[in-house]
Amino acid sequence: MASDPSFDPQRADLVVGVLGAGAMGRGIAQVAAAGGMHVLLHDAKPGSAAEAREFIGKMFQRAAEKGQLSEADAAAALGRVEVIDSTAGYSRCHLVVEAIVENLAVKQQVFAELEQIVSPDCILATNTSSLSVTTISAKLKTAHRFAGFHFFNPVPLMKLVEVIDGVQSAPWVGDALMVIGKRMTREPVRCVDVPGFIVNQVGRGFTIESAHMLQESLAGIVDIDRVMRDVGGFRMGPFELMELTGLDVTQPASEAIYQQFYDEPRYRPVMLMRARYEAGVLGRKTKRGFYEYDAEMKPIVAPEAPAPDASPASVWVSPAEPHGFEALTALLSKLGATVERGDAPSAGALIMVTPYGTDATHCAVEQGLDPKRTVAVDTLFPLVKRRTIMGTPLTDPAMIAAAHGLLASDGASVTVLRDSPGFIAQRVVAMICNIGCSIAQMKTASPSDIDKAVTLGLNYPHGPLKFGDVVGVERIHAVLSNMYRIYGDPRYRPNVWMTRRAKLGVSLLTPE
Ligand code: NAI
Repeated sequence: MASDPSFDPQRADLVVGVLGAGAMGRGIAQVAAAGGMHVLLHDAKPGSAAEAREFIGKMFQRAAEKGQLSEADAAAALGRVEVIDSTAGYSRCHLVVEAIVENLAVKQQVFAELEQIVSPDCILATNTSSLSVTTISAKLKTAHRFAGFHFFNPVPLMKLVEVIDGVQSAPWVGDALMVIGKRMTREPVRCVDVPGFIVNQVGRGFTIESAHMLQESLAGIVDIDRVMRDVGGFRMGPFELMELTGLDVTQPASEAIYQQFYDEPRYRPVMLMRARYEAGVLGRKTKRGFYEYDAEMKPIVAPEAPAPDASPASVWVSPAEPHGFEALTALLSKLGATVERGDAPSAGALIMVTPYGTDATHCAVEQGLDPKRTVAVDTLFPLVKRRTIMGTPLTDPAMIAAAHGLLASDGASVTVLRDSPGFIAQRVVAMICNIGCSIAQMKTASPSDIDKAVTLGLNYPHGPLKFGDVVGVERIHAVLSNMYRIYGDPRYRPNVWMTRRAKLGVSLLTPE
């Protein structure tokens, strides 16, 4: 194994080979050329690489028209992209990045051939998103100079690149890719080769937990999407996202990650997604998925029903959760509600509870409250645009209507769901956060790289660790602990990384 190579990732004359000129390969070639490197582009399909070069030229031209670079720089950047007719041309490369079909046998075969062509210190890298970097390189004679270099689509717009160390990768290889990634104007993060790396692992929290809630019939597709946008602060709801990606991509990726983690319950896929995948109801690409579409491919969504014209005579808020009690009583006073101050609710009062990870039923029973009058309100997130409520199976519909009417009286939206440990946003954010903690615990990546990868790669409002800090580490830990207690499902057990930081009262980003 080469331990101290003379590889200089900063050298001005660095030559980068890109194999595969499809959606990803052309993007990688573009950013490498924009970063001043010479690029050799090849694709097995005749004419593809030349067509990709033309496409890259148009991209540089467009950037010049927008004033992002001069005409001369655009021409120079395109001049650095050279199409080669065969992989033999890669003998001049210091790095070759593969972005061909996602097939293990084909990738292994291609790298076995490349290994014979390139110089001994040339780095070989794969852009695979779902295969193991270690497995792709397992049969190579020189697996030490192999690593993952995982870009995101569309490459020029998505700044993130994950640099992945396989079991046999020499540290200098990842070190060099971190430097070359920066030269390509990317934001590289470093991680160990595990299924889903960082971004695709964390993304399971968002989509799979949402599908679990749908499977459990807690709320509808549109409700879950609305809550995740309006309460969680996500740019897109989980089902809207899956519509764009397509279940033909999401479902196999989810199943692969679950299997590769030896049936880790946190990643457990959901039956209804498999059924939809089998039925070919995949999303926008099949014009039908979780949503139905009109002729212009706009999702057909019924407008939200107006809030009931109802309000309670008086409200008593349980003080069991001090943070939730404060937040909710402040809001209720602003709404002009009559808030009772006694130790117990009066005979006719609406009873409101503010649980973290506990359903309305457990709150009512454990706190000795009347389940017919108990309504739970999610106070983990600011009570601004949308508020989420749920009753016990015995809650009087008039009490739900009164709570709904009151909480909508300042124009905010209200989502009513069936009784659920953890409402909607609590559950999803807790799962995202827990997966982030598990990645940190395993030292798959540093805490700061985990958050950086997720904010850049998934556009979440915060990285998974910061998200826990923002809503409160103790509270997010309580969400999971209570869900685990009520469901008895290890899917919801909090990771030790989170438990320790909740006990110590410190940030989830605290390294060790
Ligand atoms: P694509 O289908 O757009 O392009 C693949 C290209 O590789 C095609 O032009 C094809 O002719 C060429 N090709 C296939 N076999 C080849 C071979 N043996 N030698 C040379 N060229 C060959 O695929 P895409 O989307 O660009 O994906 C490429 C790789 O990047 C895959 O491993 C994929 O998993 C990964 N990836 C894809 C992302 C995406 O969102 N599309 C995101 C991140 C990674």
